Amino acid sequence: MEKAIIFLILLLTILTAPPVDVPVFNVDLDGDAFHRWDQVLSNYNVEDLESFVTLVKSISPLLQSAYDSFWTSWLFNNTDYVFGTELSAELNGVANYTGIAFKDIVEVNLIYELTAYCSILVGYDQNHVPFISHNEDYSLGTSMLRKLVTRINFQKGGATVFTGVTYAGLVGSRAVHKDGAFAIVQDQRDAGGNLSQNFASLMTGGKPIFVLIRQAGEDCDNFSCAFDFLNNTQVGSPCYLGICGTQPNEGYVITRSHYQSDIVNQTFDGTYDWYLYEGNSDLNTNPPPYDIRREVANNYMRVAEQSTWNTNSVFYFMNIYPIRKERTVWNIISVPNTSFVQVKVLECAPVYDPANQIIDCTSCSPTCNQGVCSEYQGKCSCNFGFSGDYCDVLDGYTPQPTTESTSDKDNVARGISITSIVILSVVVTILLVMIFKKSKKYDKI
Ligand SMILES: *[C@@H]1O[C@H](CO)[C@@H](O)[C@H](O)[C@H]1NC(C)=O
Ligand SMILES: *[C@@H]1O[C@H](CO)[C@@H](O)[C@H](O)[C@H]1NC(C)=O
Ligand SMILES: *[C@@H]1O[C@H](CO)[C@@H](O)[C@H](O)[C@H]1NC(C)=O
Ligand SMILES: *[C@@H]1O[C@H](CO)[C@@H](O)[C@H](O)[C@H]1NC(C)=O
Ligand SMILES: *[C@@H]1O[C@H](CO)[C@@H](O)[C@H](O)[C@H]1NC(C)=O
Ligand SMILES: *[C@@H]1O[C@H](CO)[C@@H](O)[C@H](O)[C@H]1NC(C)=O
Ligand SMILES: *[C@@H]1O[C@H](CO)[C@@H](O)[C@H](O)[C@H]1NC(C)=O
Repeated sequence: MEKAIIFLILLLTILTAPPVDVPVFNVDLDGDAFHRWDQVLSNYNVEDLESFVTLVKSISPLLQSAYDSFWTSWLFNNTDYVFGTELSAELNGVANYTGIAFKDIVEVNLIYELTAYCSILVGYDQNHVPFISHNEDYSLGTSMLRKLVTRINFQKGGATVFTGVTYAGLVGSRAVHKDGAFAIVQDQRDAGGNLSQNFASLMTGGKPIFVLIRQAGEDCDNFSCAFDFLNNTQVGSPCYLGICGTQPNEGYVITRSHYQSDIVNQTFDGTYDWYLYEGNSDLNTNPPPYDIRREVANNYMRVAEQSTWNTNSVFYFMNIYPIRKERTVWNIISVPNTSFVQVKVLECAPVYDPANQIIDCTSCSPTCNQGVCSEYQGKCSCNFGFSGDYCDVLDGYTPQPTTESTSDKDNVARGISITSIVILSVVVTILLVMIFKKSKKYDKI
């Protein structure tokens, strides 16, 4: 039965377009901070970073009006305080290398304080070692961000001390993997903070989330140090932090508000609760009706068994619609116990093709410039801020998108159909295998 499920998983994985490894670069922490990112940046297109800046500036009316306000003026005058002197020097270096205004680089580095929708899965595999995975979703500039995502070996004394994932031009880290020690990912918490509250926290020592995660990788060598740092440090914005270590039961989702940790959920090896799935809602509440990801995850996990769980099945799971969305940019899977880390750009959305009952990525053509081809909608699905048949028209200022719930309603319909297909296929396969086994028994007789 396990074999049948694995076979099915392999079959469906083959039918999905192959994801691409995120390019890997070294960043030397012993080197001059001002030039630390030059080599990384030389591999990326400055225009992509510029478009990202433009989009960030146009996304939020509050941010737009705040751009030259007291807050932002304070922020630009106090980057040493907010980012620390090292990272502040790195930000200056990025601005210098790219020729993009320092203010804009600072602002794009605080992107998390604006918008994101992601997933975390933390649990234990068939060898009882903790794993963690994260899908990074951005509804703004999805394909732009796919071009900018970068995997960094942060090095000291010529050796890698930890792996980070970020976007070229952003000096913090979105995720951290440290061999034999721990891994951290982060997810957006929808509740709990608006821009003025985020600024209030930044002005009183709150660390921007990306800075917090990178610093955990730099300063901590073991799981308990990293856990305490994430649980106790004042942060610039509410969020969910997923962390796993190397030992059984070292798997957590921490629900953070600015000044404290509100909920700490632990997951336990070898129990019914051997995994935790976090979307964008607190784990002690039900998600809003349009977000069915947790339900899909729980349904899936009830069929799956820890004894079959490995990095391939984690990757398969993270690619199921709507766990993976059209706006999913990249995925990380990390098993610190075995030093396994995989970071993939998810180049196009998995489009469900009802006629062939497959998840087909081939129909996503590069002509949808800034968006993704949506077979479901029968046209390019443009990222926020873009429009037109090819998603290449950059809109002027448009109010905050309210399309989230509508598009998620579409996702709900598709999510249900895909989940039921997957569950149905598993059931059918199990039945077939049982029948097959029975007939084999009779053969023997
Ligand atoms: C930031 O620095 C500029 C130039 O020194 C100064 O005019 C401005 O008042 C400062 N802003 C804040 C909020 O301190
Ligand atoms: C970059 O820094 C160098 C050295 O400090 C300086 O000469 C140059 O003018 C700077 N370039 C820009 C675009 O800021
Ligand atoms: C990995 O997990 C095994 C089983 O729990 C444990 O014995 C081993 O010490 C762990 N390895 C590391 C590097 O922590
Ligand atoms: C942010 O939230 C606080 C507390 O709920 C509220 O007083 C404030 O008006 C909000 N600010 C904005 C700009 O929405
Ligand atoms: C973890 O690291 C911290 C900080 O470096 C250290 O104080 C502590 O003793 C370490 N704990 C273990 C269990 O090694
Ligand atoms: C995490 O921090 C909260 C306070 O923010 C504290 O109540 C809780 O005991 C901490 N959890 C652990 C496991 O240390
Ligand atoms: C997470 O912890 C909260 C508070 O203890 C609890 O109410 C909730 O049921 C937990 N959720 C999960 C999925 O374990």
